Amino acid sequence: NTQINDFVIDDKVIQNIFKVRQNFAHKGTYGKSIIVGGSYGKIGAVVLATKSALKTGSGLTFVLAPNCGYEILQTSVPEAMFMDGGENFINQIEAVESTVYGIGPGLGKEKETEKAVLEFLKNHQAPLILDADALNIISKDKSYLKLIPKKSIITPHPKEFERLFGTTENSFERLDLARTKAKELGIYIVLKDHHTQVVTPEGKVFYNITGNSGLAKGGSGDILTGIITSLLAQKYSEEKSAILGVWLHGKAADFASEKYSKEAMQPTDVINEIGNVFLYLN
Ligand code: APR
Ligand code: MG
Repeated sequence: NTQINDFVIDDKVIQNIFKVRQNFAHKGTYGKSIIVGGSYGKIGAVVLATKSALKTGSGLTFVLAPNCGYEILQTSVPEAMFMDGGENFINQIEAVESTVYGIGPGLGKEKETEKAVLEFLKNHQAPLILDADALNIISKDKSYLKLIPKKSIITPHPKEFERLFGTTENSFERLDLARTKAKELGIYIVLKDHHTQVVTPEGKVFYNITGNSGLAKGGSGDILTGIITSLLAQKYSEEKSAILGVWLHGKAADFASEKYSKEAMQPTDVINEIGNVFLYLN
């Protein structure tokens, strides 16, 4: 069997995925995204994810967060519509029709939040993006894995991956386990690392080579969640959203490090470079 299952995400792969924005587009053309997350003291995580969804081109963007984040979000991300999910943490996740959900940044793991996430997943069939504490909640019981809708995209860092699927000896074994689980659950696994790997339900692996250690800072992952949610809302396929998403995220980080250094660059600088990445593609 000589079938190739491993690919590097280079500029050619990206040029084939990227779609130029249509002249006669209106906001409906580019879909609806909703970022769900935040808790008292972690509203910044949803600010970053929501800004990233907007910067990536989502037509309409919502943010569902606890009320303690209302003023922060309406001030720092006025383009996004606020939806109230609780007081200091989320205890209710409203269903909005034909909207792509990105759940997890800054969510926390309160009992009520856990209930709200599980309840939402039980009633939601469309593919969505799960990250951070949404994944930590799912890790609490093996039976919760089956609640992840088919073709969803999960974005664990190595520790979150381990909580979900167990420990492995090294990164080769981890990738093997990711292939097995992606097939078994029918989902996309974005294994975040220095070279992030996108693992598909068919067992294909796409290696990302953009990005740098300037991303090794709290908040970098939240940006990726916002980017992938926005791309899926814009009707890129799940596979293309994950591939283009990790590449865009890393490329914006590379632009930011050239301007500010890996040390000084902040997640916000990465978000502000997303526009230059689109100029590079267009
Ligand atoms: N080289 C390239 N990319 C890197 C590097 C590196 N050395 N270090 C980190 N990155 C990238 C990863 O590939 C990933 O896309 O930065 C992102 C980091 O994401 P997370 O690990 O999720 O980090 P963070 O944003 O801080 O998460 C915030 O949520 O997931 C929880 O436990 C996590 O409390 C933390 C919070
Ligand atoms: Mg994270």
